[in-house]
Amino acid sequence: MVDIHCHIVPGVDDGAVSLEMSLVMIEEARRLGVTSILTTPHIRGRMDDVARHEYHKKEFQKVLDAKPDMDLHLGGEVRVTPDTHSVTDRAEFTADEKSKYILLELEFEQVPPYFSQLLFEYRLRGITPIVAHPERNVGVLRHPEYALEFVRQGARLQVTTGSLIGELGDAFQECSLKLLECGLVSFLASDAHNLTTRPFTNWPAAYEYARSFSERGDCIIPVSADDLCTNNPGAVCAGMPLPPIELDEKAITRVRQRLSKNNGPAVKRKRFFFL
Ligand SMILES: [Fe+2]
Repeated sequence: MVDIHCHIVPGVDDGAVSLEMSLVMIEEARRLGVTSILTTPHIRGRMDDVARHEYHKKEFQKVLDAKPDMDLHLGGEVRVTPDTHSVTDRAEFTADEKSKYILLELEFEQVPPYFSQLLFEYRLRGITPIVAHPERNVGVLRHPEYALEFVRQGARLQVTTGSLIGELGDAFQECSLKLLECGLVSFLASDAHNLTTRPFTNWPAAYEYARSFSERGDCIIPVSADDLCTNNPGAVCAGMPLPPIELDEKAITRVRQRLSKNNGPAVKRKRFFFL
């Protein structure tokens, strides 16, 4: 398995607080079958984050030096704000060394009106936006068809392992399953922050959940657990293209019908995710 969203760079955000914790987290991930990690410290998506990225690189190097036998990559999780438009040409913010992908985190409460334009700007630059945990966004929870529009605009979706297996609440799990059933999800990732409340440990359960779900045979666009957990995230780490999501008119109609069922679950924020 390849994890493209987690917070193991020590002392730079609300993730690992020390190099020691970071190394234990990596060992835990390895024990569970994770072979590559793209770590994604929080970035606010504005010009002064260029200096912040230099700091991330310095701290990440300490992890690299201590774990030369693990495949580790440094990216970032870019919080979408109106300022993000001004950094779409900065390689520092992308998630892979070839600058082909960027991991974007929406505010919890809504999908901002400028988000479509931002996706368009990234696509113009040949960068594929990855929307981090859309199932945890209130706008998407209330209007799941937004997720379809993200994908139609060239973005890919990353669902969090804890959401899929229900650890983060029923509403997030329900939304995750709905997106998965429609074939809109390209990645699972842990969003691991520590060893206790947000660990790597739900990876095996999430893989099994995705495997049994995809084998049910009633997904509109089936996606295998191996693609979600290994092949697609591996392509991101390598800056390689992903297989396309085949959304013809018939599929779009079915996806819309599926997404429109049972919207509007009660949503309570369980934790404060940003630093
Ligand atoms: Fe994150």
